[in-house]
Amino acid sequence: MTRDKYEKHLFPSLKEARRRMQKETKQIRYQLPDYLLGIGNNKKYHIKTYGCQGNLADSEKMAGLLEATGFRPTEFENEADIIILNTCAVRENAENRIFGELGRIKNLKKHNPDLLIALCGCMPQEESVVFKVMEKYPHVDIVFGTHNLHRLGEYIHDAYFSKEKVVRVYSKEGEIVEGVPMKRAFPQKAWVNIMYGCDEFCSYCIVPYTRGKERSRHYRDIIAEVEELAESGYKEVTLLGQNVNAYGKDFTDIRYTFADLLLDLNRIDIPRIRFVTAHPRDLDQRTIEVMALRGNIMPHIHLPVQSGSNKILKKMNRKYTREAYLELIDALREHIPDIAITTDIIVGFPGESDEDFAETLDMVKRAGFEGAFTFIYSPRSGTPASKYKDDLPADVKKQRLQELNKLVNEGYLNGNKRFEGKTVKVLVDGPSGKNANMLTGYSEHNKLVNFPGEKSLTGEIVDVKIEKAYTWHLRGIIE
Ligand code: 5AD
Ligand code: SF4
Repeated sequence: MTRDKYEKHLFPSLKEARRRMQKETKQIRYQLPDYLLGIGNNKKYHIKTYGCQGNLADSEKMAGLLEATGFRPTEFENEADIIILNTCAVRENAENRIFGELGRIKNLKKHNPDLLIALCGCMPQEESVVFKVMEKYPHVDIVFGTHNLHRLGEYIHDAYFSKEKVVRVYSKEGEIVEGVPMKRAFPQKAWVNIMYGCDEFCSYCIVPYTRGKERSRHYRDIIAEVEELAESGYKEVTLLGQNVNAYGKDFTDIRYTFADLLLDLNRIDIPRIRFVTAHPRDLDQRTIEVMALRGNIMPHIHLPVQSGSNKILKKMNRKYTREAYLELIDALREHIPDIAITTDIIVGFPGESDEDFAETLDMVKRAGFEGAFTFIYSPRSGTPASKYKDDLPADVKKQRLQELNKLVNEGYLNGNKRFEGKTVKVLVDGPSGKNANMLTGYSEHNKLVNFPGEKSLTGEIVDVKIEKAYTWHLRGIIE
């Protein structure tokens, strides 16, 4: 370890991040320090976001913070005074891509020596990443983690005025910071964090280390945020958490669960409420019953199964069986018969035999998934699974992924086909990237729908009659 060499900096430790303390999380209100006002005047920022919706929401906060200090956005890297890479650590290939980007961005400094480059998000929470950046990427000016992004302005100030690399990565989460300004990416749909962190410790996953312990926001703050969004014309809110079904479990003074929250949000006059990500162990009957009330709660659930084999689920520390998962699916379909169910699946987990994989394929058929994100297992240093013997050849893993994807794609098509000839409500995202005369958006069941229409319908909910279903989208006409 070369930690001593960099004593001025604050480094993370995955080992330290693993420890959970019982203490309650404090909530504080953000206030922009006066000395940061105007530091971004006449300057431009460019943020690149990788990974999950949690990172997209964090990037909206960083954009809000930057704009509060005077920065303006630019979509062009070569115009930017600061480039921020908001990173994902879930799989190794994502990390490699980001290191590639860091290498490429270096050249921009030749043309603009004052350019600041910042690396943040999940990757810097790994000490190995920070050391690699120190040793091999000296052109990176600012490194900070997930627990202190509200201090971005201070770090920019320090980088400008001290001309030294600023490395500030805390291993442990701090308070929940309310009132951080946000610049939302869309005018019609918004992310709303309901909790931070994860206490599940699935054996393959780095997230409980990079995002810290589970901390729920006070429901009053969440409800107020959704009410405000509704009043400003937003049509859809997606509630965010690594395991939304654990919402409220960390409250020590009140009893208030995810089902309570959904019920309260169901009363707000906003057309659509969605949530990601659900966890099969914590999804309870009451939540399913509240979802069945419908109203603004959308008939879609993303419920990661990860594997169909009990042996592998146990090694993954998922804390449910395939039978329990299938019972949940039955309960969901019993209460919400038309629900669309999507999932995440990992293949090639250490010890996955042909039989285990066959059970995963069988699970996909039985559960009737209408979509899945599928991954080859990627060992993450510091997690328990990274020490498991992983002797499955790479080509077997690839072959399994292909076989799985074939089946998953049939599920996508079947899920889309059930809407042929029907009329669905679509929240219009805007003109399709490929054809400016076509609009694109998502239905209540979260199906991608393309149809001819005017750009002015962007942000509206329109009725679209579905003419044809394809694997990845539906095509229709406005009714
Ligand atoms: N390797 C492969 N996939 C992973 N995921 C999380 N950690 C890993 C890993 N080490 C997948 C899981 C999770 C999704 C967000 O990413 O399927 O649900
Ligand atoms: Fe990772 Fe499991 Fe937490 Fe999801 S629930 S973030 S897979 S540890």
